[in-house]
Amino acid sequence: MTNETKPTIIEQRKLEHVQIVLEKNVEYKNKSTGFEKIDFEHNALPELNFDEIDISTNFLGTKLQAPFMITGITGGYGPAQKINGDLAAACEKEGVVVGLGSMRPLFEQPELAKTYNVRDRAKKVFLCGNIGGYQLKSMNIDNMHKVLCELQANALCVHLNPIHEAVQKEGDMNWLGVLSAIKKACKELDTPIIVKEVGSGISASLAEKLESVGVAAIDVSGSGGTSWSGGVESYRKGRPETELFWDWGIPTSIAVANAAKRVKIPLIASGGIRNGLEVAKAIRLGATLAGAAAPFLKAQNIGGEQEIIKLIQTWKRELKMTCFGTGSKNLSELSGANLIKPLDINEL
Ligand SMILES: Cc1cc2nc3c(=O)[nH]c(=O)nc-3n(C[C@H](O)[C@H](O)[C@H](O)COP(=O)(O)O)c2cc1C
Repeated sequence: MTNETKPTIIEQRKLEHVQIVLEKNVEYKNKSTGFEKIDFEHNALPELNFDEIDISTNFLGTKLQAPFMITGITGGYGPAQKINGDLAAACEKEGVVVGLGSMRPLFEQPELAKTYNVRDRAKKVFLCGNIGGYQLKSMNIDNMHKVLCELQANALCVHLNPIHEAVQKEGDMNWLGVLSAIKKACKELDTPIIVKEVGSGISASLAEKLESVGVAAIDVSGSGGTSWSGGVESYRKGRPETELFWDWGIPTSIAVANAAKRVKIPLIASGGIRNGLEVAKAIRLGATLAGAAAPFLKAQNIGGEQEIIKLIQTWKRELKMTCFGTGSKNLSELSGANLIKPLDINEL
């Protein structure tokens, strides 16, 4: 904490988010990502050497070892410095993207900047800053530019979370002008902007609007994983509607498949992605990267950087196995792999 006595309200909120996700079951209850409804057609003769399968990719001009991202989690209270450092160091070693949690606390209490600064442990990792779309409306672009330079961020994630705000007693409710703020930031910042949800999904029509204002990539962050409008806020004693809105949102598989038909910018699939096979399915539906938050936070809590590395390596192997089982020698071939179509009895 910033002093030895009491944490501030912001520090307390950030700490609670992490504790709740680590200690409670906050996943969607009756709704899934939809990935379980998709099956690859098995190829019994792949004619491939497993060790030569290439799962590398390019994202916003950077070559990655694998198409993964740890999406924004935390920052803004003392122990967040170690969490962000472990996440970033693991991602650097494994050649994948890492996101920071919302930097709002840093703008309100500049002494918290160190909890976001990971460059002493990960000089080269592709690093994404993070701010709420709502906060962007009143943000001084020069200040944002300065912070992004200090953190040496490669991109800025702008999160959209209207229903998550609406279930909070202290939620931000006036969302007029957020799209214009995103457009202005795209124009005036020289850092690429990635727009993301936090688990309720981005629709294809919104994806089109975001592309048209200059957004560089979209993380659809759909439903099926961590529920912010239900799970997390119900434990934070949010409004009574947390129960009704627990399962709100567009399932991740549907969000990514629909957006991929309408936009050309890279898509990130997150929200309930839990293994390398689901990453493969997301890529087949049109994603460039797939990401997750809760599983990597849990890994960090169990064993720091080494446990995060272990999980990334497991996902890499599972993704490679899916390439092997579909006869895809790289991600480009995987993105066109055959799926099993449900049998239509009328066609027999
Ligand atoms: C503890 C925690 C804190 C989070 N804080 C942020 C945040 O500050 N900014 C943001 O854009 N997303 C935040 N997220 C949302 C995640 O980036 C992600 O969109 C969401 O949790 C769905 O992914 P998951 O099902 O893999 O957890 C947070 C997630 C967790 C688990």
